[in-house]
Amino acid sequence: MSKYIFGRPIGKLIHGGDYNPEQWLDRPDILKADIELMKKAGINEATLGVFSWSVYEPREGEFHFEWLKEVMDRLYENEIYSIVATPSGARPAWMDLKYPEVMRVDGMGIRNRHGMRHNHCLSSEVFREKIGIIDRKLAESIGSHPGLLMWHISNEFGGECFCDNCKNRFREYLRVKFNNDIEELNRQWWTTFWSARYESFDEIEPPYDNGQRAVMGLNLEWKRFTTWNFADFAAFEIDTVRKYSGRYDIPVTTNMMKQYDGIDYRVLAKQIDTISWDSYPEFHNDRESYADTMRESAFDHALMRGLKRGQPFMLMESTPGVVNWMEYNKLRRPGVHIQFSLQALASGSDTVQYFQFRKSRGSAEQFHGGVVDHVGTDDTRVFREVARTGAMMKELSDIEGTLWNAKAAVLFDWDNWWAIEGTGGFAKTTRNYPQTCIGYWKMLSELGVEADVISAEDPFDGYSLIIAPMMFLLREEAADKIKEYVSCGGTILGTYMMGYINENCLCHLGGFPGAGLSDVFGIISEEIDTLYPTDTNAIRITDDRFGKSDWTVKDYAEVIKVKDANIIGVYTQDYYRDLAALTYKEYGKGVAYYQAARCNPEDIREFLGAVLDAAGIEAKDVPKGIEYHRRRDDEKSYDFYLNISDDTITIEGCELAPKESLVVRTGADGSVRHMRVTV
Ligand code: GLA
Ligand code: ZN
Repeated sequence: MSKYIFGRPIGKLIHGGDYNPEQWLDRPDILKADIELMKKAGINEATLGVFSWSVYEPREGEFHFEWLKEVMDRLYENEIYSIVATPSGARPAWMDLKYPEVMRVDGMGIRNRHGMRHNHCLSSEVFREKIGIIDRKLAESIGSHPGLLMWHISNEFGGECFCDNCKNRFREYLRVKFNNDIEELNRQWWTTFWSARYESFDEIEPPYDNGQRAVMGLNLEWKRFTTWNFADFAAFEIDTVRKYSGRYDIPVTTNMMKQYDGIDYRVLAKQIDTISWDSYPEFHNDRESYADTMRESAFDHALMRGLKRGQPFMLMESTPGVVNWMEYNKLRRPGVHIQFSLQALASGSDTVQYFQFRKSRGSAEQFHGGVVDHVGTDDTRVFREVARTGAMMKELSDIEGTLWNAKAAVLFDWDNWWAIEGTGGFAKTTRNYPQTCIGYWKMLSELGVEADVISAEDPFDGYSLIIAPMMFLLREEAADKIKEYVSCGGTILGTYMMGYINENCLCHLGGFPGAGLSDVFGIISEEIDTLYPTDTNAIRITDDRFGKSDWTVKDYAEVIKVKDANIIGVYTQDYYRDLAALTYKEYGKGVAYYQAARCNPEDIREFLGAVLDAAGIEAKDVPKGIEYHRRRDDEKSYDFYLNISDDTITIEGCELAPKESLVVRTGADGSVRHMRVTV
């Protein structure tokens, strides 16, 4: 895999975004002005055709790509690249009316009507045939255009379909998965429970909202099937544009949505060359500080870039101003857009792209922010911030292809999330798996440690510390890998809810954490207590190498039996008072820590610092209000200091007001350049 997101160095960072000239074909004056405005904003890329099917093929079998070619020509003449999307994200009306099977069926078995977007059935052969034709025509028309930089497959894959075609495809998928052995499926899904046994694969239905939802293995496999179907569909589109353009060197991506729960992105990521994603943090909300929003946004970048280790990613969409779909669509304050963009670059993105270049005049997104507002000029606050972002990116252009070096990783797995959400027990509203992972990651970030976010199935090499929050679903292979990792000198921090079930949702027998991990940690988790928000408990640290203060316990507290672990902390209340709540065990050459209860991330700061020290991970010593990142290659390194606090902070002699940042470039020749990014 190339470290360059376009398969080759292009000598600049990409600054651009979704552009919909098809909405303005009757306004050549506006199309002309757009090019000038793009140049003024330092924009060098336009993402075209994301929802253009009804313009490409207004009537079945009648195609129009001349306008697209003309737009691409004009952009290219002005040194602006094109990223071209396949149009499967929304369908023309004629198709839905003539071939209703292309529309999705919901969980109650009711078919959608024509309209909206993202509602196509992925199993419909008619839909595949139609998308096959339009993708082929598109590839033949513009696939060899010199301005074409990349294919953008569909748009934000998501949702699910319960139609008969999907049902049949699910059965075929299961037949393959279980080697056509229905008794094996019955065993793995524990179907003797509530008479759920199947006599044949043809009896299996998807987990309809009003149907079988009591078989955990079925629920989980349906989600895996939906992911598989999206990946298969993406592969079909990718093959089509490659084959009919003949350009196998043009990379492909599809835009993802951070912690979207409907698709296991790790599976989808295997189909594409480059990770791209759409980021819309809810800045200035009434629940958290700007710093918290920023750190969570940094976690999201780490999650997305972790889908392809060793390669930068793309910030495919963001808004320079405001969105139109949140509860409260608050304006980004001055300086936020530029710091948010710098954060993406600092985290490993080689692009900053927007939805959208020009605001549409009508329909659902007319009041969604864009680079160019309805006023149509460059004389707006947002435009100026975008132009400054463009200028900043020009100065930073040689970060292209540089990488970061993370020695710590937090595990995050989609099927683990599904299993945690789907199981009975615990509390309905406090499971909070993603939030828990974010909590650990943020704390590492506050401690000046750049951490990756990876899957339990990814290689662990290169990491000195792995944090495995709530690893409820544990595969034998993952358990073996953890054993090997720790015995060879790695450090792991496991938590409550670890190793309860296997990949088919069957409980591990013989003590949690299962599959042999209770030996690694030296404990057995015997019970888990679910706390009401009003309940209190705490962990008292009894080993002062790991800090002193009591940690507040909330939501979940496991009662554990210590086999041969060392106790670091004990509960202070309830019938499990004085019993172990925090332990470690030296296993082989490594160490396994176990945190039996949920605590505020803030409380575990000192402990985590000690764990990092013991694991030999050097933390960058930065003030708490600074978000720090580093990118580098053999020739240079870049240090990024983002002041995300409300105070002025001095870094390397440079006073940074809130939302200001400092970038320090150090060359291999010893040269040092400081670049201050002001509000
Ligand atoms: C998503 C979509 C875009 C647009 C934006 C609005 O990211 O991909 O087409 O609708 O949301 O925020
Ligand atoms: Zn379907």
